[in-house]
Amino acid sequence: KVMICLFVLSLAMVPMFANGSQEEKAPVQKNITMRLADNQPDGYPTVVGCKEFARLVKERTNGRITIEVYPSAQLGDAKSVIEQLQFGGIDFTRTSISPLASFSPELDILQMPYLYRDANHYWNVLNGEIGEYFLKSVEKDGFLGLVYVDAGSRSFYNTKKPIYTVADLKGMKIRVQESSLMMGMIKSLGAVPTALAYGDVYSALQTGVIDGAENNWPSYATSAHFEVAKFYSIDQHTRVPEMIVASKINMDKLSTDDQALIKKAAMDSQAVEIAAWAEFEKTSEAKVRAAGCQINTINDQAEFAAAMAPLYQDQLDEQGRIWVEKIKAVK
Ligand code: GCU
Repeated sequence: KVMICLFVLSLAMVPMFANGSQEEKAPVQKNITMRLADNQPDGYPTVVGCKEFARLVKERTNGRITIEVYPSAQLGDAKSVIEQLQFGGIDFTRTSISPLASFSPELDILQMPYLYRDANHYWNVLNGEIGEYFLKSVEKDGFLGLVYVDAGSRSFYNTKKPIYTVADLKGMKIRVQESSLMMGMIKSLGAVPTALAYGDVYSALQTGVIDGAENNWPSYATSAHFEVAKFYSIDQHTRVPEMIVASKINMDKLSTDDQALIKKAAMDSQAVEIAAWAEFEKTSEAKVRAAGCQINTINDQAEFAAAMAPLYQDQLDEQGRIWVEKIKAVK
């Protein structure tokens, strides 16, 4: 009995000693390295913004949290990066909400055609209560929306001819982002949509698999699509918001203080991206004009808006239409 008692006592003391020796050590400061994916190249405004975000996080944690920024789709195209975020393979991405809306369909509301009156309206919506609601709305799908970034407005470009009217687009094969709403937009104009990853558009234009695509000035210039599709027709059919989003699964592993710090750093990086965008938009337009692209403005924006208007009935539910009213009411 004595032996058994001694044995039990010794077992009980092992964890006591173990705990005691742990308490003497200073708490370990774990260094954390996280990865952020962007499909645009180094120097592009969104990448400039992401690097500022990473810099702020590093500075504010005294180097404890490092965010490595991977530009040029090094970690995969937009869709596969978003999938990896969902299960924690990648920590952050800067993405257009078009592909994200396949995972979080409510986001389609924010990319409806001719929804925003101008850039000011766009920012008043996104940096206000409505924008905050949609940043949070992606949480149920495995993401944390951190901040919106500027992405200008999108217009059509093609290899064939200038577009002045809706009829000019008839039967043209137009590349769209991987989004059912974008497919619908192209169909509503009488053109034929082809969903392709951004990185596949250049060769598709070159080989004639598609006749055209649509994007903002910086993307048209940086992707070199202007080399093969020299007709750019300004119709500004949509302003597709872009976001820095985080993997919820991975953010949940951090302390609440670190999560708040990261969210704040993303918000604080926004001004740098917006300034870089304004500059780059001008130089991109100048670059494609200098390269001899044929640029025109469509005849009548109202004609395009009217052709796309049925999408507000077909692609949105009642709740979506209520959001649209709220967005339109923003000054
Ligand atoms: C924008 C955006 C890209 C996106 C691209 C597209 O340029 O910045 O991230 O991939 O649109 O049309 O796919």
